[in-house]
Amino acid sequence: MRKVRRMFTADEIAVRVKNIGEKLTADFNGEIPLFVCVLKGASIFFADIIRQVKTDIDIDFITISSYGGNTFSSEMKFIKDLETNVAGRKIVIVEDIIDTGKTIDYLRQIFLKRGAESVSICCLLDKFSRREVEVEVKYIGFEISDEFVVGYGLDYDEKYRNDTEIWVLGE
Ligand code: IMP
Ligand code: MG
Repeated sequence: MRKVRRMFTADEIAVRVKNIGEKLTADFNGEIPLFVCVLKGASIFFADIIRQVKTDIDIDFITISSYGGNTFSSEMKFIKDLETNVAGRKIVIVEDIIDTGKTIDYLRQIFLKRGAESVSICCLLDKFSRREVEVEVKYIGFEISDEFVVGYGLDYDEKYRNDTEIWVLGE
């Protein structure tokens, strides 16, 4: 597998990140929401997006297992849980990409079960044609077609995460 086509440049990503940051700033002004980064894929997007939010926020990190290399397993478990008590909090889950929607739906339900006041979803990429579980995604960077993408935090077998652009992977 190799990078076959550039999907988004660093500048294109930066413009979307700034726009979403403005929207988040307006929506959560004065509320101190908890921004949750879904490691590892969302790490780069998370670092950029939280710096475009111009109101006080808290941050925390989780790691859940769902993908190994390129094979999907519907079994999901926390490898690293939050350190923050989410009861009564407004949560913004920051994810790299939503595919079937299973990961984000699982997280949303867990945080609501723990007493979160609200759970909003912010994702960089949305592969909407692959959706199996319906989820409301309020903040979306780009809707994309069903292609495997890497870069800007997204990996294939843990590689390409440090690429500044987003690329389609192919033969
Ligand atoms: P979902 O639970 O099916 O929505 O899967 C979402 C997760 O699958 C993301 O957090 C990614 O880790 C992974 N994923 C889905 N599509 C891609 C892709 O094109 N490139 C890299 N990772 C992907
Ligand atoms: Mg991920």
